Amino acid sequence: MGSISNVLSAGPRKLEGQVAVITGGASGIGACTARLFVKHGARVVVADIQDELGASLIAELGQDASSYVHCDVTNEDDVAAAVDHAVAKFGKLDVMFNNAGVCGPPCFRISECTKEDFERVLAVNLVGPFLGTKHAARVMAPVRHGSIISTASLSSSVSGTASHAYTTSKRALVGFTENAAAELGRHGIRVNCVSPAAVATPLARAAMGMDMDDDAVEAIMENSANLKGVGLKVDDIAAAALFLSSDDGRYVSGQNLRVDGGVSVVNSSFGFFRD
Ligand SMILES: NC(=O)c1ccc[n+]([C@@H]2O[C@H](COP(=O)([O-])OP(=O)(O)OC[C@H]3O[C@@H](n4cnc5c(N)ncnc54)[C@H](O)[C@@H]3O)[C@@H](O)[C@H]2O)c1
Repeated sequence: MGSISNVLSAGPRKLEGQVAVITGGASGIGACTARLFVKHGARVVVADIQDELGASLIAELGQDASSYVHCDVTNEDDVAAAVDHAVAKFGKLDVMFNNAGVCGPPCFRISECTKEDFERVLAVNLVGPFLGTKHAARVMAPVRHGSIISTASLSSSVSGTASHAYTTSKRALVGFTENAAAELGRHGIRVNCVSPAAVATPLARAAMGMDMDDDAVEAIMENSANLKGVGLKVDDIAAAALFLSSDDGRYVSGQNLRVDGGVSVVNSSFGFFRD
């Protein structure tokens, strides 16, 4: 950890020598974050269930800077093994990014939602980050240092933007994050969430229940966005994860960092600020 002057004079590589595990790292936000972290000097363990995609990302990033493990975040043995793999291969764990998530079926009528689908979304989106936090803390607490980040969502603050299961999972994830921050702060571990609005990834396309390309997803989001003229990209979420991981965020804990152009705090239906 650096002093404040070190932070202020920090060079462009903000995670030099750091080691990160990124769940759901083979695709979308996770893959973009893996690329950014490596660019900033980190070594990254990509943990996912999409083995081919994971392997091709490691081929791109290089074996010295990255490693892939098959890890189903709902399986405690898998999560424990991913953390242990980071320590065995790269010597330690500085950053845990609990990012794996599913949207579940695009079910917007409770009468049609099944218990199995509801529980599956909670298993990946809530139990997964619980297990990631538990096992990251196991290796971080003894060295009194670490940053744990989970990907929540706009639906952690705004209802009616996703299915019941997804909204429940992400809102509960913020509660869990705050509680974990309360416990783990005394071990020098920071715990935060990052909450994106919709950004074009396979998950977002599935959530909308439509077969559309990235431009079409971005056009839908632009229409409902508060901040105009700036389309949300996966790079924006990766940049927020970098902030929370690095010394730039060294006193930030227990927060839900919304990367949504302000849409979660605005009710534009009143129309006071229209042209
Ligand atoms: N894209 C959006 O609009 C958006 C908005 C808000 C929050 N999020 C959240 O961002 C996170 C990343 O999603 P994304 O948009 O990059 O989608 P994505 O589909 O590109 O990536 C999700 C990744 O999670 C992995 N995954 C799914 N189930 C898993 C499991 N059981 N174990 C391990 N890995 C598993 C998938 O294989 C995939 O690689 C998710 O938590 C999602 O809820 C996304």
